[in-house]
Amino acid sequence: MRSHGLILLAIVLALYCCSTTGHNGEQPLSKIAIRKTTLATTVAARIRASPLVLGLQGQTSEWVTVKFSHPNPSNDDWVGVFSPANFSATTCEKENFREYEPLLCTAPIKYQYANYKNDDYNKTGRGSLKLQLINQRADFSFVLFSGGISNPKLVAVSNTISFANPKAPVYPRLAQGKSWNEMAVTWTSGYSTEEAVPFVEWGELGGPQIRSAAGTLTFSRAHMCDSPARTVGWRDPGFIHTSFLKDLWPNLLYTYKLGHRLYNGSYIWSQSYTFRASPYPGQDSLQRVVIFGDMGKAEADGSNEYNNYQPGSLNTTYQLIKDLKNIDIVFHIGDLSYANGYLSQWDQFTAQVEPIASTVPYMVGSGNHERDWPGTGSFYANMDSGGECGVLAETMFYVPAENRQKFWYKTDFGMFRFCIVDTEHDWRPGTEQYKFIEHCLSTADREKQPWLIFLAHRVLGYSSGEFYGIEGTFQEPMGRDSLQELWQKYKVDIALYGHVHNYERTCPIYQSTCVREAAHHYTGPFEATTHVVVGGGGSSLAKFTPLRTRWSYYQDYDFGFVKLTAFNQSTLLLEYKKSRDGLVYDYFTITRDYRDILDCAVDSCSKTSMSS
Ligand SMILES: *[C@@H]1O[C@H](CO)[C@@H](O)[C@H](O)[C@H]1NC(C)=O
Ligand SMILES: *[C@@H]1O[C@H](CO)[C@@H](O)[C@H](O)[C@H]1NC(C)=O
Ligand SMILES: *[C@@H]1O[C@H](CO)[C@@H](O)[C@H](O)[C@H]1NC(C)=O
Ligand SMILES: *[C@@H]1O[C@H](CO)[C@@H](O)[C@H](O)[C@H]1NC(C)=O
Ligand SMILES: *[C@@H]1O[C@H](CO)[C@@H](O)[C@H](O)[C@H]1NC(C)=O
Ligand SMILES: [Fe+2]
Repeated sequence: MRSHGLILLAIVLALYCCSTTGHNGEQPLSKIAIRKTTLATTVAARIRASPLVLGLQGQTSEWVTVKFSHPNPSNDDWVGVFSPANFSATTCEKENFREYEPLLCTAPIKYQYANYKNDDYNKTGRGSLKLQLINQRADFSFVLFSGGISNPKLVAVSNTISFANPKAPVYPRLAQGKSWNEMAVTWTSGYSTEEAVPFVEWGELGGPQIRSAAGTLTFSRAHMCDSPARTVGWRDPGFIHTSFLKDLWPNLLYTYKLGHRLYNGSYIWSQSYTFRASPYPGQDSLQRVVIFGDMGKAEADGSNEYNNYQPGSLNTTYQLIKDLKNIDIVFHIGDLSYANGYLSQWDQFTAQVEPIASTVPYMVGSGNHERDWPGTGSFYANMDSGGECGVLAETMFYVPAENRQKFWYKTDFGMFRFCIVDTEHDWRPGTEQYKFIEHCLSTADREKQPWLIFLAHRVLGYSSGEFYGIEGTFQEPMGRDSLQELWQKYKVDIALYGHVHNYERTCPIYQSTCVREAAHHYTGPFEATTHVVVGGGGSSLAKFTPLRTRWSYYQDYDFGFVKLTAFNQSTLLLEYKKSRDGLVYDYFTITRDYRDILDCAVDSCSKTSMSS
């Protein structure tokens, strides 16, 4: 795993190995493989990128043109995008199966084959690519390789290009604070607290603006649990700032701008954004909530990235942006970016969701791809986080948890109470999380907050996902064993999950039995919880088991998301929409009066006194 001595490659052209090296001794330089990368620079091969300066009007994303020529072209040739421009093209030995090709010591941000939309590249040796870059705190270079991604040979390196201000504050994401009238604004920049003071300038739309200070977080390579996050996938995360905008007036529109005050007195500003403050808990007004899991990210320019398997991600994102005026809050219940240890991808993800997350609260949950790593306290000892072991999710996004390491929290939104569970930590009786779940469910005031929603990443309820079918559990083993009593006792209306990349809805169910037939309209007293899998946010779809259960009512093998609409305290609508067209494919309503919630259901009430 450590030094293999020989350094085969000495890249000229102002390249310096391992520019992203940290200070803790785990340097990519110490892992150079001997055989693979060879230098194949030829004088006639060229690659150029333009324009040289991006974001001159303050844009945080821009399209660039990369032109290249190669005297000895092949269909295997590819172009890698590197940032910082100063990178290492040496090959680093694979440490575990969570590292993927190309196995370069500096992972490219993304890459594309030279013949992509250049049909005669292998004859003419000439091509050009249109690539979309986002501002991510450093400059860029583009490199032409031959030998495919398995055996990369560096052919030519481009000029360097850069955003006008690479450190600019970018990608704001809103989240509900710990109290209903507080909005957290989190963003990323290249400004440490030694260089500038971060703050948010904000106020009612059209009214006077005030400034609120922001806190700053970052982390080092030493915080990563393993490779690739700790080695080839590491990239400087910059600084993550959070400011809490307090004492908001329900439903009013606010504007805000991210700012940094440099110590010489100059200011750096972001563009200006708008959001609507959240409703007061119990407030009877139209409230619309979008919920999905497992969305991930993808490149609009068609480029390949590490962990490039979320083909539905852009459709979901575009569909939500299209309907944003009719959405009040979003829950992304785990498997957020699928960076899986290639840290640059968190910038790509926050850039992709920016139009949504800067406008409505973007509440996240933790999934296996955020948290799991062997020997790090995750309930599941797999390697799905690529060595991130939760640090990225816990820092890049704010959630109103007591301790963001333990990614469970409650949040109130008007007539809704949401209890968000962390399936990557134990939830069974006797655990800290079980106490939280019972507390969250039991403290909802159902007169004012009639709609009680349980959210989790892995399926703790019911799913006909193929792998759960093979296990014969139709859930995570031990998932609902003890939770079903809580759902029943506290009359949870709907439980939603991700993890299984499809859509499925059950009948109102308790102890694996339909308490009533599934339908499109439910009225009258609560009988049992409806379970919904909504893991089709974007990641490659998951098959259903061919086994048919009595409780599975609607199944869809496609990308989509759920929208809950609370019209008032007596009518709730759930709609399942496909990401491809935004149309409704499944729905149901719950209509009831307050006395219906007070009424007893199976196992939901203690006995009333017999004395008179
Ligand atoms: C590459 O980047 C590192 C770290 O910023 C710097 O120390 C080094 O001088 C750079 N090398 C070149 C050739 O620019
Ligand atoms: C060039 O690419 C085309 C399309 O992929 C392929 O059919 C053809 O065989 C290639 N020619 C050479 C010389 O590789
Ligand atoms: C303050 O520093 C920044 C960055 O170094 C510079 O662009 C700006 O012109 C300086 N402003 C003043 C007033 O000196
Ligand atoms: C609640 O909203 C539904 C749907 O808009 C409507 O039909 C119903 O009359 C409303 N109920 C009350 C009590 O306002
Ligand atoms: C995305 O939406 C378009 C337009 O509806 C559709 O043609 C395409 O198949 C969708 N992509 C995926 C991966 O579902
Ligand atoms: Fe998952």
